[in-house]
Amino acid sequence: MSIKFKINGKPVEAKAESDTPLLWVIRDEIGLTGTKFGCGAQLCGACTVHLDGVPIRSCGTPLSAVAGKSVSTIESLSRNNSHPLQKAWIAHDVPQCGYCQSGQLMSAAALLSKNKNPNDSEIDQAMSGNLCRCGTYVRVRAAIKTAAAEIRGAKA
Ligand code: FES
Ligand code: FES
Repeated sequence: MSIKFKINGKPVEAKAESDTPLLWVIRDEIGLTGTKFGCGAQLCGACTVHLDGVPIRSCGTPLSAVAGKSVSTIESLSRNNSHPLQKAWIAHDVPQCGYCQSGQLMSAAALLSKNKNPNDSEIDQAMSGNLCRCGTYVRVRAAIKTAAAEIRGAKA
């Protein structure tokens, strides 16, 4: 079947079974490979994208759930690393192996879209579904604070 939705602001029409995981449509049909497959069981957060601005796990979201909606992937932040989160991630040297990081960034982007000055516990709560086997949590938290400061126009 064919399902229409928007991805990163562009209309797309995906031709796949309605129960196909969104993650596979994004990667294999649309060709945006920044979103990663980690566990495939909605446990790790590596596949996090936004659905109408809300972070979701694309490995456990059927294609049918996005009909008529807007999906944003890591590629939507910026292509030239100019988004405050991307700049902060680079400044804090956050990634280690990198595998979990697009999911981390999308959860962080969703947090900062609602809360431009999150405290430690708000960050930990928002990021609790994103696992990192390399243990980058401390740098993730610091980078979110730096990005939040830039968004607020304050000094980091
Ligand atoms: S790959 Fe989706 S939560 Fe792990
Ligand atoms: S940076 Fe390696 S899993 Fe997070």
